[in-house]
Amino acid sequence: MEKLLILMGKKIMKILVTGGAGFIGSHLVDALISKGHTLVVIDNLSTGFKKNINPKAIFYKLDICDPAIQKVFIKERPESVFHFAAQVNLRRSIDNPIKDAKTNILGSINILENCVDAGVKKVIFASTGGAMYGEANIIPTSESHMANPLSPYAINKLAIESYLNYYYNIFGLQYVSLRFSNVYGPRQNPKGEAGVVGIFCEKIFKHQNPTVYGNGRQTRDFIYVDDAINASISAMEMEGLGVYNISTSKETSINMIFDLIKRESGVNCKKIHIKEGGGAQKKSCLDYSQAKKVFGWQPEYSLKKGIINTIRWYRSKLNYEKNGSIL
Ligand SMILES: NC(=O)c1ccc[n+]([C@@H]2O[C@H](COP(=O)([O-])OP(=O)(O)OC[C@H]3O[C@@H](n4cnc5c(N)ncnc54)[C@H](O)[C@@H]3O)[C@@H](O)[C@H]2O)c1
Repeated sequence: MEKLLILMGKKIMKILVTGGAGFIGSHLVDALISKGHTLVVIDNLSTGFKKNINPKAIFYKLDICDPAIQKVFIKERPESVFHFAAQVNLRRSIDNPIKDAKTNILGSINILENCVDAGVKKVIFASTGGAMYGEANIIPTSESHMANPLSPYAINKLAIESYLNYYYNIFGLQYVSLRFSNVYGPRQNPKGEAGVVGIFCEKIFKHQNPTVYGNGRQTRDFIYVDDAINASISAMEMEGLGVYNISTSKETSINMIFDLIKRESGVNCKKIHIKEGGGAQKKSCLDYSQAKKVFGWQPEYSLKKGIINTIRWYRSKLNYEKNGSIL
């Protein structure tokens, strides 16, 4: 198989994915395995699930802060690393910035130090686009817009981008940082606070009315998970490095998301508006033209198609798991 893939002009590699039991990471692992690569997953299963991990992947249940990570790098010697593990809850980063920094800063440095020591060629980092620019004055917002991270979560993503640049300049470790907008799709954990599509789907299939903060006219840029995965793999395969928005460049309000899910699911429900906490971002929409120009990536899924796929997944999950919990 290996020889055949090389003959076909496809280089197969050993690739390590941190956060490979999570929503985006597990889809990434599946896609890389289907391309013939050998996969190693590091995850502490804090928000991810063992059942998400592709059985063909080599799995280490470890925290990214753990010094034992070194043994994994020495044993497995990956060529490329996707660093997708993180404390992902923005609200929790505000409530406990020290804990957030321990995982998202110190854990990331632990991964990068080991990348250098083990001779890894390239790191792909899951950064944030949605939380990076604050209330931007240009929509869609490009990477050249001033960063204005308003939460410890986003501050730490920006800090790791600076570390990536440092490790490249001093040690030659190549990197691509992907500033994802709001990713949605199958396997998203509806218990989190970020995935409004997953939260709404779970609510309506449990015959509960979804809650919308404020008037629901706040906008986000929703990207389907398969598009995010294609961008991640293209970023690994290209020669260059840098920081790129991965998005659709389309603004969609929370009200529009609710209406679309209601229509496409056929479930009769209504949304309940509750008071918004102060400081919530009103608009977020990112310009992906740099990713298109540099590595030829662009989103393929319409919002409608992505939502239909997501609804189908949540519906089938609820049919199988009668205990009322989707995950
Ligand atoms: N989902 C989005 O809309 C979105 C947008 C921008 C950026 N991102 C980033 O993409 C990455 C993946 O996010 P996701 O939405 O799949 O979230 P997720 O919670 O499903 O995945 C994160 C994974 O990391 C693991 N993890 C967390 N802390 C860890 C630790 N200390 N050690 C080892 N493993 C740990 C979790 O168990 C989980 O499997 C994150 O870095 C996140 O910040 C996500």
